[in-house]
Amino acid sequence: MDDLQKLEKDILAAIEACDDLVILEDIRISEVGKKGRISLLMRELGKMTPDEKKTFGPKLNGLKDLINNALSDRKSALELKELNIRLQSEKIDISLPTLPENNGSIHPITQVMDEVTEIFTELGFSVAEGPEIEEDFYNFTALNIPAEHPARQMHDTFYFPEDEKGNRKLLRTHTSPVQIRTMMSGPPPYRIIAPGRTYRCDSDATHTPMFHQVEALVIDKNINMGHLKWCIEEFCRKFFELDNVKIRFRPSYFPFTEPSAEVDIGCAFKDGEILIGEGDDWLEIMGCGMVNARVLENVNIDPNEYQGFAFGMGLDRIAMLKWGIPDLRDFFAADLRWLKHYGFAALDIPSLSTQNNKVGGDRKIGGSSSSENMSDSSPLNQNGGQ
Ligand code: DAH
Repeated sequence: MDDLQKLEKDILAAIEACDDLVILEDIRISEVGKKGRISLLMRELGKMTPDEKKTFGPKLNGLKDLINNALSDRKSALELKELNIRLQSEKIDISLPTLPENNGSIHPITQVMDEVTEIFTELGFSVAEGPEIEEDFYNFTALNIPAEHPARQMHDTFYFPEDEKGNRKLLRTHTSPVQIRTMMSGPPPYRIIAPGRTYRCDSDATHTPMFHQVEALVIDKNINMGHLKWCIEEFCRKFFELDNVKIRFRPSYFPFTEPSAEVDIGCAFKDGEILIGEGDDWLEIMGCGMVNARVLENVNIDPNEYQGFAFGMGLDRIAMLKWGIPDLRDFFAADLRWLKHYGFAALDIPSLSTQNNKVGGDRKIGGSSSSENMSDSSPLNQNGGQ
């Protein structure tokens, strides 16, 4: 008995005095490990009389538990101590600038957004924004897509649960609701683009549940389809850095435009690569049309006085085309090797609009001082645009 009490006292004292996790593990092995002192004592139980077992057994078990608890408490305390030492010694100052070799890069989508924005702002457009969590009215109803309209099914919408009033918000399926928000924010004329994230429940090599679009809306007096065509041709010429871009307008249907068209760009497929502006193949790049009179009426604009055009384009799609990126899903996989390969230098300012007469060619790093102002020569200006 006395022996057990002494043993307990000695072991607990050793644990308490231990200052090192490796030594603590040695203590554990030598006391309660398979061949440890306590385990050997346990084996002795077999040789005892039943009465001895009755008194000695529980005591030994109690001692084993006591030691195990003391070991685990000491282990936690030592680990915490070790962690604090590491936190102190490995502290980094996150406000310091990064090392040159760790520089981040601009994601191709951000680059495309910057380039598209630059081209359109030079044409006199301003940038508008809308929420990604949208109301049914802006995403569908006001755009002439009432409940039960078959076009709703094509959108694979992510809906939120109903609120108390029975309304369901949704993740916007396109950037077109920004048209409605813009037209409800003040009187015409409008000349805006709205780049941003959009969502549809769809996923394969050319579809991701989150993707990007840019919307354009021009409303004024006497705007016609010729303006739309010029605008799109001008954009393609600058964006793809080509003097002669083959463009085709194919009749199509969108509830919010009448007439509607889809725009294809001429291309060739050579050795698994897409060459824009060459060959006899076509790739669809956007939907467009003259804003439907019903949409204007929905936002209290008189369609006899004002009319205009709109278009919507997939930004991921045009990025893939421009830089030959084969799989859309890679854009959002956060793979650093991919980002390093397709990313752009952090200080690479898009300078497309200053290269008006440049055919194809190398990307410029940094801006250029040329200040040719496209908005002065824009035919849209001849109609008293913004
Ligand atoms: N919102 C359409 C879509 O996501 C694209 C679109 C087509 C936008 C025609 C427009 C337009 O503004 O006029 O499929």
